[in-house]
Amino acid sequence: MCGIVGYLGKNQAAPILLDGLSKLEYRGYDSAGIVVRDGENQAEVVKAKGKLINLSEKTNNGLDVKGNCGIGHTRWATHGEPSEVNAHPHVSDDMNVVAVHNGIIENYQELKEKLTKKGYSFYSQTDTEILTKLIDYYYKKYQIGPIDAIAKTMVRVRGSYAVAVMFHDYPNEIYVARKDSPMILGINDGDCFLASDVPAILKYTRDVYYIDNLEMARLHNGQIDFYNLDGDIVPKETSEIKWDAAAAEKGGYEHFMMKEIHEQPRIIAETFNSVCKDDKIDLSSVGLTTEEIEKISSIYIVACGSAYHVGVSAQYIIEDLVKVPVRVELASEFRYRKPMLTENDFVIAISQSGETEDTKKAVVLANELGANTLAIVNVVGSSIAREAGNVFYTLAGPEISVATTKAYSAQLIAIYSIAVEFGRVKGTIDEAKYKYYIDEIKAIPDKVEKIIESKDRIQWIANKFAYSHDVFFIGRGLDYSICMEGSLKMKEISYIHSEAYAAGELKHGPIALIDDGILVVSCLTQEDLYEKTTSNMTEVKARGAILLAITTYGHYNIEDNVDYVTYIPKADEHFMPSLAVIPMQLMGYYLSVARGIDVDKPKNLAKSVTVE
Ligand code: G6P
Repeated sequence: MCGIVGYLGKNQAAPILLDGLSKLEYRGYDSAGIVVRDGENQAEVVKAKGKLINLSEKTNNGLDVKGNCGIGHTRWATHGEPSEVNAHPHVSDDMNVVAVHNGIIENYQELKEKLTKKGYSFYSQTDTEILTKLIDYYYKKYQIGPIDAIAKTMVRVRGSYAVAVMFHDYPNEIYVARKDSPMILGINDGDCFLASDVPAILKYTRDVYYIDNLEMARLHNGQIDFYNLDGDIVPKETSEIKWDAAAAEKGGYEHFMMKEIHEQPRIIAETFNSVCKDDKIDLSSVGLTTEEIEKISSIYIVACGSAYHVGVSAQYIIEDLVKVPVRVELASEFRYRKPMLTENDFVIAISQSGETEDTKKAVVLANELGANTLAIVNVVGSSIAREAGNVFYTLAGPEISVATTKAYSAQLIAIYSIAVEFGRVKGTIDEAKYKYYIDEIKAIPDKVEKIIESKDRIQWIANKFAYSHDVFFIGRGLDYSICMEGSLKMKEISYIHSEAYAAGELKHGPIALIDDGILVVSCLTQEDLYEKTTSNMTEVKARGAILLAITTYGHYNIEDNVDYVTYIPKADEHFMPSLAVIPMQLMGYYLSVARGIDVDKPKNLAKSVTVE
């Protein structure tokens, strides 16, 4: 939520800042701003409400703002409505301090009162303005340098922040501080960069530093120094980012979401190959030993959004394959319900960004309670990856579209790998079954490819329902978990109200909402539950619903009962989520396009949710 970039080097900063912000726009797009400084001159601040394009137009793509040192911000409003005045950067009264910030300052009210008494006034409703002025206050009061002034501020504020600051007295320098909000720094041939996420600087460098919580950094003269709260230098080495720069570009597709849907076969294969060599799953790269797996007596899965839906699928899959009780919980609920964990409990956190605040705090809690933890994350070096005892990296590459597709698919593969390997270790899966499951997982990419190839049919159906008001998704067992994701995809990018219901639960309320012409999407990939779900479909059909079924080839008699069918290839039933979700992703996409919505940047949403 909110994206930050910074540049200091040999080139003009503004175009680089705007380019970086364009890669971070998925983090927030209600306003944007930059500040650029040309040598000793006064820094120039330019802000614009709305999407980044407005700022680009206002600055002639950055060409009108001169200088080699600057920071920029794209905002997702927390304190204060979206407006130019609330947009970052924020400045102290005399422009001594200019800052951009991602996160939330919880005690902003108290700090505002303190600063007001000291003579400060405020022009915006943001906590960032207060943070900026608090830095200015300490800087002037104690006549100290930037690092000490920022350190004093960090001690005084509560909440989360990644902040980039420029001081008038220190031209050609940028200062950074971080606690609980993402931030990376990069260098390349005398140029220094900072950003909330890798895609913003991938075009310019692959050598990055990870700044830890409660650390600060100083960018100057082509180098970056790190400090702890005492102002002592913290030595750090760069890490190399392996992502391909082209991965953060649209590559000829109209939207990132469509590009990311198409990347899924490759990503599924690569993620599985990362833990499966010579037809054997090896979780040693994840950090898990056979002894650790043997001792697991129950599993908790914590996640948010689509990652939570992967968790719901995982619950069915792992319980069936490993015969260990699994409980899946929304991370935001898990944190506050005083979970009873023991050292034989295993907690799996699933997160694309690795920065979701609730998921991160759930991992911290699980660690404190003595459970072994595993993170399934996509971003190397992210906060959740660093907190968890073990890490399974999904190899989805940078995911830009706010609505996740490829990261979700990669997370499923991580779950399948874990389930099959845990089953082997715990003796619930024999040799023959083990080989069978591995072959089945290896066959998924080609099947996904086939579904994507026939996307025109989904587009045709989506266009017919572009003006629906309500859509229901129904299924049982694993099909229900897929419906949850299908429903979320639909509502988040098409703004059509949709709900996922366990088909057997329909009669307990939601059926009252079924009326003539309401679309009900049913998912039928689980043989044992097929007839039960078709009965529920008949019930809604009798009340006027229009039925779209997603089922496997072979169930052709379904055509007698439904209005539309989308057939998908068969796979082992545990792995059907990987196939059944694809038509649902496409449905959400095409509905969004048909309704003229900005597919990759739906309103009010941010891809990385770093506030509670
Ligand atoms: C946001 C995104 C979702 C994502 C969820 C969890 O709501 O829009 O796509 O599933 O956060 O994010 P994470 O990075 O933890 O997977």
